[in-house]
Amino acid sequence: ASSMASAAIVEHSFHVKNLTLRRLCSEQVITAVNGSLPGPTLRVREGDTLVVHVFNESPYNITIHWHGIFQKLSGWADGPNMVTQCPIIPGSSYTYRFKVIKQEGTLWWHAHVSTLRATVYGALIIRPRSGHSYPFPKPDKEVPILLGEWWNANVIDVENQALATGGAPNNSNAYTINGRPGDLYPCSQNQTYTLKVENGKTYLLRIINAALNNQLFFKIANHKMTVVSIDASYTQPYITDVVVTGPGMTTDVLITADQPVGSYYMAASPYASAPGVPFDNTTTRGILIYEGSTAPTPIMPLMPATNDTPTAHKFYSNLTGLAGGPHWVPVPRQIDEHMFVTVGVGLAPCGGNATCPGPFGQRFSASMNNESFQLPTGLSMLQAFFFNVSGVYTPNFPDAPPVKFDYTNANISSDLSLLFTPKSTSVKVLKYNATVQIVLQNTALLAVENHPIHIHGFNFHVLAQGFGNYDPVNDPKNFNLVNPPVRNTIGVPVGGWAVIRFTANNPGVWFMHCHLDVHLPWGLATAFVVQNGPTPGSTLPPPPADLPKC
Ligand code: C2O
Repeated sequence: ASSMASAAIVEHSFHVKNLTLRRLCSEQVITAVNGSLPGPTLRVREGDTLVVHVFNESPYNITIHWHGIFQKLSGWADGPNMVTQCPIIPGSSYTYRFKVIKQEGTLWWHAHVSTLRATVYGALIIRPRSGHSYPFPKPDKEVPILLGEWWNANVIDVENQALATGGAPNNSNAYTINGRPGDLYPCSQNQTYTLKVENGKTYLLRIINAALNNQLFFKIANHKMTVVSIDASYTQPYITDVVVTGPGMTTDVLITADQPVGSYYMAASPYASAPGVPFDNTTTRGILIYEGSTAPTPIMPLMPATNDTPTAHKFYSNLTGLAGGPHWVPVPRQIDEHMFVTVGVGLAPCGGNATCPGPFGQRFSASMNNESFQLPTGLSMLQAFFFNVSGVYTPNFPDAPPVKFDYTNANISSDLSLLFTPKSTSVKVLKYNATVQIVLQNTALLAVENHPIHIHGFNFHVLAQGFGNYDPVNDPKNFNLVNPPVRNTIGVPVGGWAVIRFTANNPGVWFMHCHLDVHLPWGLATAFVVQNGPTPGSTLPPPPADLPKC
């Protein structure tokens, strides 16, 4: 009862508007929250209610998503455009209101419409309730580290140009740490993030990958990191000299300033798993400097090669959950819904468009189970669910792809029936409290690469992951049912598979999509429609009065 009494209401106002910043030798107008990049860091304790008044003073439609928040019975606050709400149009506002319960650690918030999340993002930090502590030694200081991407261009123009031509978007011009490119980029000498540390003290770095289209390696010269939490769920301590992180993922690490007094670079560089696909091959770095240091030049860590899949796989597959720790949920043992979902990039016809420079003269598309997801217009999916409006989505997402094939055999790239994916807004309907197992299988179509697949509204256990075709007979023998990592975003290994499980204990509409931003408009998505349960406590309440209209 005393912990209930300690729950607070934490209220913020977000003014989304233009901001002119000087980066990489020129000025750029971006869309940002409260005049800063990254936007404000939100801090709550588990059990608190977060209330954020969003005022759209920008020229673009806006929605804000609270990435990784369960939104139990508060789906109206989840935020993905046309999935749970119509956008907040320029000049209007919407208040997001939700409880933060049964999860703690690092999450983040970001725009969930077009490519605006490139500059509209910030940290969301959930500390334990007062009187409760971390399941690891208390750090002397906590530091958010937001990794991002920067374009010398308006990001909406970047997306529009890619969609108009059917090709891939232009690469970013820089990676950033807390909004700063760092001294390897032109005109950026004094835009290098610096963290001052005291000899012997311990720091909790809350690392957030807010980059749009790139997975990243993160290192700090000469310092080991101990991973204690991912995606706001605790892990068994894992000691590493490199963190690998896909867009959407968060990684909390402890570091101790136990090296000779001096200065050390922290750096992030791309993990690019797709052979032949161009990417921003640059490195951002910041400085970790000890108090009293007189070192003239920081020490630089040796970064992994951009295609170092073994390092990525080692990191991801060595993480384990803190079974029995705060908010631990045991793995569901009985499965109601077995799904097999392919994830990959494919093609769509150019249509009437003359310029279509994708492969084979077509335009890029992407799919799950060979269907290319399209957002509805006119009404959001959650409104359609609540008000029982048909025709907005169809409840026929296939449980498996229509064709069985060798997913890792690149020869099938020439099979046009698999490359050309039909468009649909088909969803998977789940009964309230259904337990779901999904085998996510990467396809070899066109660009084979590691896809960070994110599910809204639920964390899932990651039972196993591997390369090649998933083997339904032998791979289950290696499932970790005891202490698997718990995530909201899973990097499906390049040319491989991952198996996840969750319980659909939250009625509403929950998006599942690749968090490489460009894959979203291409259709690498579907949604779960979770039906209401039998009681008021398992039924989605009506929308707030200020829910935006289309
Ligand atoms: Cu972080 Cu659907 O998003």
